[in-house]
Amino acid sequence: MANQLDSKIVVALDYADEELALDFTRRVSPLLCKLKIGKELFTRAGPQLVRRLVDQGFDVFLDLKFHDIPATVAGAIAASADLGVWMVNVHCLGGSRMLEAARSSLDRHGGPTLLTGVTVLTSMQKEDLIELGIDQSPQDLVFRLASLAATSGLDGIVCSGQEAGAIKQHFGNAFLRITPGIRPASYGSSDDQRRILTPGEALAGGSSYLVVGRPVTGARDPAESLLAIKKEIGEDSDRD
Ligand code: C5P
Repeated sequence: MANQLDSKIVVALDYADEELALDFTRRVSPLLCKLKIGKELFTRAGPQLVRRLVDQGFDVFLDLKFHDIPATVAGAIAASADLGVWMVNVHCLGGSRMLEAARSSLDRHGGPTLLTGVTVLTSMQKEDLIELGIDQSPQDLVFRLASLAATSGLDGIVCSGQEAGAIKQHFGNAFLRITPGIRPASYGSSDDQRRILTPGEALAGGSSYLVVGRPVTGARDPAESLLAIKKEIGEDSDRD
């Protein structure tokens, strides 16, 4: 279950080394932010680290973007739920049979883990889709994949802040919008991200949770950088 204060900030622990990730988590309380473990850290540190952070009380988003045949994804989702993570995700491009298999797997498990679907990576723009033979705007493709996710029973999608408002309007507030590509104005770079917004813009625009990586983890003082973002969105009063 989500922590009581339900911080909107999910820090992407994209560290190349488990110790660096733990240095950061030692400096923040589970009430301050949620954590996201993606492919880099998971491949290095494995499920033991996920379990350790869950046991410490952190809401962990396991961002492995499962995309495989339905049976394989169903098994991977059950394994994720066994770890006690707050959220796990699949890639919507796996299609409705795969999404439904993921949903059924979580339902059979019966735990509180949330299931979200990646739509179009925030690092991609129209030209990247054309290269793949998809002649649609990122917004239209996000909307189409969100429909697939909603009818397959997912709890929400991962999308950019630029699409979150329209998704919220159409699918309702209960259908979560998880937004990476967050760049505070003071950060001054988009890195490899393309469809970016500031934390304030994304929340005002309809995002439910903000995934923030390098603006925090790449800062000289990551914990201070997190607090500055929390202040920007008015979440600074719950520092313990
Ligand atoms: O460093 P940055 O803030 O760009 O990190 C964003 C994080 O969100 C990364 O861990 C990336 O894998 C993840 N992500 C993303 N776009 C998606 C889904 C996940 O950037 N559509």
